[in-house]
Amino acid sequence: MDRAGTTDVPVFAFLALERTARVLTVTISREEKLNAMNDRMMEALTECFRWIQRQNDIHAVVLTGVGKAFMAGADIGGYHDFNMGQFFDFQDQGREMYRSIEACSKPVIAAVNGYALGGGFELAMACDLVIASEKAKFGLPEVKLGLVPGGGGIQKLARVAGSFLAKELLMTGRFIEAAEGKDLRFVNEVTEHDKLRETALRLAAQLAEQAPLAVQALKKLVNEGRDASLETAQAYDRSYLASLFCSEDAKEGVAAFVEKRQALFQGK
Ligand code: COA
Repeated sequence: MDRAGTTDVPVFAFLALERTARVLTVTISREEKLNAMNDRMMEALTECFRWIQRQNDIHAVVLTGVGKAFMAGADIGGYHDFNMGQFFDFQDQGREMYRSIEACSKPVIAAVNGYALGGGFELAMACDLVIASEKAKFGLPEVKLGLVPGGGGIQKLARVAGSFLAKELLMTGRFIEAAEGKDLRFVNEVTEHDKLRETALRLAAQLAEQAPLAVQALKKLVNEGRDASLETAQAYDRSYLASLFCSEDAKEGVAAFVEKRQALFQGK
């Protein structure tokens, strides 16, 4: 990882970071290879999201790509020279990267500007919300390499799109247009290409204004509850509600409603 250690926003290899108030935009920048990820990029993304997690004044993140790709997946060129151990180290590193996004308590919006393929689609699916340009194309085309997706995409796609459609998409490797992604419910909103960043940033700013602890709890509860039994998940919801009820932000939110004023949340 390249890191220039400025106090405000550090420098990570292949990533451009930009702050606007409480929102951080992370732009994946390896345009000549359609932002395909190698081990240095995965390390950078992982470190970046761990850094974001520690920043109390960042409340929401937009993740996007430069050029015509969000991310065209793993750097296939690197696969050529891998032995089995190196290949699995690479896959594990990918999973650690997705985990750093899922474990980051702040909401992460994928602003998908173009190709989101293989690990790039899995990256979008590791985020909390997906805004797609009308030029976005999603897909898990690993079958064309004689492989299967290794970053969790098989089960995630099967859960959102259902097993029949997921099998078709996985077995053919066909690309999914943004509008179909919305029909399949892994895209929240499709925008004109030129309005993608603006739309994602507006949504991020809206999330950044909410009570941080409640937003963080919602991310965790949905992520962890979706694979639990309904009873277990609801018990978990209830325990979070109890701790939020005791928070200063909840007192402020309720007081502001009663006093007919804007709430000022502190994340406490
Ligand atoms: N790994 C490594 N390099 C990649 C890449 C990847 N996943 N995806 C694209 N690139 C490189 C190309 O090799 C090319 O490099 P070059 O100019 O040095 O030859 C450059 O990015 C531009 O890609 P190109 O294929 O010329 O663009 P295109 O517009 O014709 O096609 C895609 C775009 C996305 C359809 C095509 O690049 C593609 O199928 N990529 C692989 C996607 C994939 O299978 N991902 C899953 C990996 S497990």
